[in-house]
Amino acid sequence: MIRIQENVQLKTFNTFGIRANARHFVSLNASDDLFELQQTDLFKNEPRLILGGGSNVLLTHDFNGLVIHNNLKGIKPTHETDETITLKVASGEVWHPFVMHCVQHNWGGVENLSLIPGTMGAAPMQNIGAYGVEVQEVIDQVEGIELLNGSARVFSKSDCRFGYRESIFKQELKEKFFISSVTLTLTKKNHLLRTGYGAIQDTLREMDVTESTIQAISEAVIHIRSKKLPDPAVIGNAGSFFKNPTITQQHYTSLKSTWPGIPGYPVENQIVKVPAAWLIEQCGWKGKRVGDAGVHQHQPLVIVNHDRATGEEILSLAMKVRGSVQEKFDITLTPEVNII
Ligand code: FAD
Ligand code: EPU
Repeated sequence: MIRIQENVQLKTFNTFGIRANARHFVSLNASDDLFELQQTDLFKNEPRLILGGGSNVLLTHDFNGLVIHNNLKGIKPTHETDETITLKVASGEVWHPFVMHCVQHNWGGVENLSLIPGTMGAAPMQNIGAYGVEVQEVIDQVEGIELLNGSARVFSKSDCRFGYRESIFKQELKEKFFISSVTLTLTKKNHLLRTGYGAIQDTLREMDVTESTIQAISEAVIHIRSKKLPDPAVIGNAGSFFKNPTITQQHYTSLKSTWPGIPGYPVENQIVKVPAAWLIEQCGWKGKRVGDAGVHQHQPLVIVNHDRATGEEILSLAMKVRGSVQEKFDITLTPEVNII
């Protein structure tokens, strides 16, 4: 049974901690709730915003419509062999406890993605990634409902059109499709251990780990992230505000002659990925603050809300940062965060 509330404060529903009101707000707690909601006039007539953990959104104004808060729970094994297990996970399951559940059962594939905030349903949305792994590697299919007509759809991995922080759900299906479950296959043995990301190897050494396991990798990732990234419970943020940009090899070579220290990683033929954090730091933004909006002192790719910044103030700072990078390096930063 759904309960639609009016004029709800969203501060605790977004990790930036932005104070914004939703004209209407509903939590989905059971799979029938969405069906019930779809029968209401409110659903048919108002703009809609789906919210999971609110850890990748920036609310720049009150939302004059219906916020649909996803709280659908359940983890169901659907197939198992000696080697693998396949799980169908409801989209409101919180990501990190799910990862811990897998690590405890010795199911491999998501350990490098430990401590990422948010829900299962948002994971395919931007194909979450960290420490050399993207969630698309373990996803089999994504199921959900088209909001316009209520029809159920199943997306195979290739239908999802995953890319770096991208998918079909973040493009043409944005706010048109409710992801209700994600099906993932994990390994039970012969795990593919990914320790290639420099900081993981160093941390495993510090931990005196001689033989890597998924448990040790998860622990190392949690350790690195806790040191590097601000905890939204302490200071409002949504992780990386921008994506790391890619430029042509020619552009990179020309920048290298002026900035010999510029880091860059070849991603495909003649294309180089440059860390946005480095570009932002060179522009002098690291640790800077404009009112209550700030650039984090240890990780300049993270824009923070020191206390009472509005969404517009956060956005305005982000656009200044973007302008500096454009001017100095002729590189356009694209927001990773979903700006509402
Ligand atoms: P929300 O912020 O609630 O929503 C994000 C977008 O997805 C919105 O457009 C929303 O409408 C849509 N959406 C949400 N649920 C659904 C659904 N069920 N169906 C359809 N659309 C939906 N991301 C990474 O990739 N890697 C990282 O390492 C990482 N680190 C982070 C660290 C910190 C400290 C923080 C605060 C964020 C970090 N993020 C990272 C970003 C964020 O955690 C992820 O993008 C996460 O998947 C967002 O989940 P959410 O449930 O909070 O999504
Ligand atoms: N750097 C600086 N100054 C700094 C910090 C970093 O110059 O103060 C440069 C260094 O060259 C460093 C590089 O930036 O080597 C990369 O930094 P880091 O390893 O912290 O990672 P990132 O590229 O900034 C990305 C993801 C994170 C993910 C980490 C780990 C994006 C947009 N961000 O950050 O994801 O956790 O790698 O894999 O791809 C997120 O998406 O919200 C997010 C946090």
